[in-house]
Amino acid sequence: MAQRLDGKALAQAVRTDVRQEITAWRDAGHRPPMLKVVLIGDHPASAAYVRGKEKDAAEVGIDTETLRYPESIAEDELLDVVQALNADAAVDGVLVQLPLPDHINEQRVIHAIDPAKDVDGFHPENMGRLLIGDPAFIPATPYGILEMLKRSDIATEGQRAVIVGRSNIVGKPMAALLLQRTANATVTVCHSRTRNLSAHTQAADILVAAVGRAGFITADMVKEGAVVIDVGINRVDDPSRERGYRLVGDVDFEPVAEKAGWITPVPGGVGLMTRAMLLVNTLHAAKQHAG
Ligand code: GUN
Repeated sequence: MAQRLDGKALAQAVRTDVRQEITAWRDAGHRPPMLKVVLIGDHPASAAYVRGKEKDAAEVGIDTETLRYPESIAEDELLDVVQALNADAAVDGVLVQLPLPDHINEQRVIHAIDPAKDVDGFHPENMGRLLIGDPAFIPATPYGILEMLKRSDIATEGQRAVIVGRSNIVGKPMAALLLQRTANATVTVCHSRTRNLSAHTQAADILVAAVGRAGFITADMVKEGAVVIDVGINRVDDPSRERGYRLVGDVDFEPVAEKAGWITPVPGGVGLMTRAMLLVNTLHAAKQHAG
């Protein structure tokens, strides 16, 4: 039976560290770090994520303001908002919540964010820096996964890491991080066109599932004793719940937990670490910004 990687406890430990660092930073005479979030439209999941980010930031002493605009905002107007935040010396971090409406080119907006304020780490300059091992803002989900492993004393050195999913937000930066000389894993990235996926996942010492399909990773795909990291957050109908659905990951949890050595639950796993690492990135942005 797998041990749980408890995202709630691990994220709390990260927040405690960040809060202490911010206290020392304030004691040295600096203003609190300032994160500005841009939220377009009223996508319920995005609104919920943003509330979570605001709550976490308040807990550690980061100031936040969320700028809300209607779904109908023009791309040029959104680019102007980003430019104004880039130019504002009182702003350390800028985060544009994704997804954006279809009429807005997401890449154009990400490119417009000042790389020095890009606490999501999605700007090509930060992605490139990550790939070559230069200092960079690291996307919060893969950063959080690495932090979970570190804080749980799970070694990555020489391990076979298999990532299922090749997104710019999770799969690609996760591969780059695990490949760095600080992690030294042997990395395979699988995706929807991978032939004989099970042959890859069955060889994984560390398996990262980031495909966005409920229960996609089944027990037969997992090696005995493997570390299973579930990035998925999927809604499935559940009439027994008042809201009519429940959240599940990409991993078929109970059977896989029987077989794995370690496993992250959903909810209560990677998602909370993602939120915590945004705080780490925002503090780093504030420190760099102050020189
Ligand atoms: N939407 C889902 N995850 C994220 C994230 O990490 N950052 C932003 N900006 N939007 C998201």
